Amino acid sequence: MKDKIETLLNEVEKFSATSAEQAEHFRLKYLSRKGEISILFDEFKTVPSEMKREVGQLLNKLKISAQEKLDSFKSLGEAAAETASANDLTLPAVSFTGGRHPLNIVRKEILGIFGRLGFTVADGPEIEDDWHNFSALNFPEEHPARDMQDTFFIDKEVALRTHTSSVQVRVLEKTQPPVRIVMPGRVYRNEAVSARAHCFFHQVEGLYVDKGVSFADMKQVLLYFSREMFGEKTEIRLRPSYFPFTEPSAEMDISCTICHGKGCAVCKHSGWVEILGCGMVDPAVLKNCRIDPDIYSGFAFGMGIERITMLKFGVNDLRLFSENDVRFLSQFKSAL
Ligand code: PHE
Repeated sequence: MKDKIETLLNEVEKFSATSAEQAEHFRLKYLSRKGEISILFDEFKTVPSEMKREVGQLLNKLKISAQEKLDSFKSLGEAAAETASANDLTLPAVSFTGGRHPLNIVRKEILGIFGRLGFTVADGPEIEDDWHNFSALNFPEEHPARDMQDTFFIDKEVALRTHTSSVQVRVLEKTQPPVRIVMPGRVYRNEAVSARAHCFFHQVEGLYVDKGVSFADMKQVLLYFSREMFGEKTEIRLRPSYFPFTEPSAEMDISCTICHGKGCAVCKHSGWVEILGCGMVDPAVLKNCRIDPDIYSGFAFGMGIERITMLKFGVNDLRLFSENDVRFLSQFKSAL
């Protein structure tokens, strides 16, 4: 029996546990009611009385060292309890330290505003073919936007999309009106990176095609958007412009959110800042998508999320959005 106790003593001393399960296994093996040590205590009754003192001391030593060992595993149990609670989805959430990217906050807000007007979200690929990015949108063969200066070509027919207008074509090809969608996404242009330009940025495109959609409808939707986004006192102004895929086309300015019309560096002392391009969908685009322009009409608009975010939060350098500097990012808080 002495030998048996000594072997166990040795085992107990050498034992180490790295998980709560191993600690429990140890407890069951040595210290439970049917464990090795209990069995030895039972056997102890049969030990001849002249040996009882010596064996008894040894047995006690074993029991104490097993108990001490088990106590030393306690922290494992606590850690295990913590992980168990971390995985318990029914517990209340602990607050987390991360936050949303400012572009993400603004993108969500834009989609939310148009969502309230019944626009649903549509999506398209960032690697796009010539047809969807240019030809179907009525870009003439020799249009400068197709030039290597502006477009990142993958091969002659395939490029990184230069605008989200390509998604209009993809949706219109597959859907008969009414179509009322917003299309957020990343776009690419071959430009030198500076405070005001980047080789990639984000846009939200909007499209509404149905019977009898007018320029006045577009103006009202864009006014609603501007006031929701920049405050109810915001004014808008539409200036004639040109895009191959809209006719007539316009650029839209909002009253300067920084100086409220008094004149500042952001609005270059004009009181107005441009935020988007828009217009009535050119009948040629509808035809390219097999939609009858004699029956249907529509409007489209496209805005840069960076631009809206810069105006909303007073950010003056486009590069900050892609540098991932936490000192910049942690200044933006969102509820969701
Ligand atoms: N695609 C245009 C751009 O990237 C914006 C635009 C979209 C203009 C829809 C009119 C209609 O500049």
